[in-house]
Amino acid sequence: MPQAIKKAVFPVAGMGTRFLPATKASPKEMLPIVDKPLIQYAVEEAVAAGCTELIFITGRNKRSIEDHFDKAYELENELTIRNKEKLLSVAQNIVPSNVACIFIRQTEALGLGHAVLCAKPAVGDEPFAVILADDLIDAPKGALKQMIEVYNQTGTSVLGVEEVEHSQTGSYGIVETGELDDKQRIVNIIEKPHPDIAPSNLAVVGRYILTPRIFEFLSTIGRGAGGEIQLTDAIARLLKYETVIAYPFDGKRYDCGSKIGYLQATVDLGLKHPETGEALRNYLRTLVL
Ligand code: G1P
Repeated sequence: MPQAIKKAVFPVAGMGTRFLPATKASPKEMLPIVDKPLIQYAVEEAVAAGCTELIFITGRNKRSIEDHFDKAYELENELTIRNKEKLLSVAQNIVPSNVACIFIRQTEALGLGHAVLCAKPAVGDEPFAVILADDLIDAPKGALKQMIEVYNQTGTSVLGVEEVEHSQTGSYGIVETGELDDKQRIVNIIEKPHPDIAPSNLAVVGRYILTPRIFEFLSTIGRGAGGEIQLTDAIARLLKYETVIAYPFDGKRYDCGSKIGYLQATVDLGLKHPETGEALRNYLRTLVL
């Protein structure tokens, strides 16, 4: 069995300009879907997959993320006085007690690859996961857990992928794959190619399991697409030396970095939520023409 994946990195330093003005003073990762912020869905997925060290790469205006995963004494006190036991337990159990949260500031917005490189002092020489909270994946078995099962078989890096509309390739890292036993080995990866030059429509979504060798490439690649240090470019180097698997996970992904994806997630998860499901279903019926 390869070394266990215990560390998950959450790059949360982005500006979230697509959600202005909502994200002017608060992070996009704190936008709620029904009653939980996006970052909490991501954290729950990592914890369910067995991660016990959560490394957040934060930036300016992100303090509320740290507060969210910290103890809230005043709130707990108030809820205790008012005998709100259920809510008290919600506030106290954001992360299980065996899970540690580490916060690292990314002082310059140099891109996703740079954000992951900032995690190096906390990750060290271990394989680790990266989760992008704005890709919310709803699945009976979490996407990261599925990917860790693949990693446990192969000991290689594994990227979560799904097919997208061909016209959308310019929004994603796009992979070209070949067969490797019953799996798909990545032979090429390009950051946000124009549909005319995209090698496929298989897109990397925000789930990665990476071997620590990625840091070697992240520290040397320099700036790529959009003038940023791209994780995709470092993976393109990595796959020259190591096998990297593309894994089409089972689950529904919502691009909560876009307004429509965010609304779709809100409706679908609202319909599943025990407190809102029935009422929302009834309301939506009144809207159907
Ligand atoms: C990032 C990555 C891209 C990946 C995408 C998934 O792009 O650079 O390769 O496909 O996340 O959501 P971003 O959405 O941050 O522009």
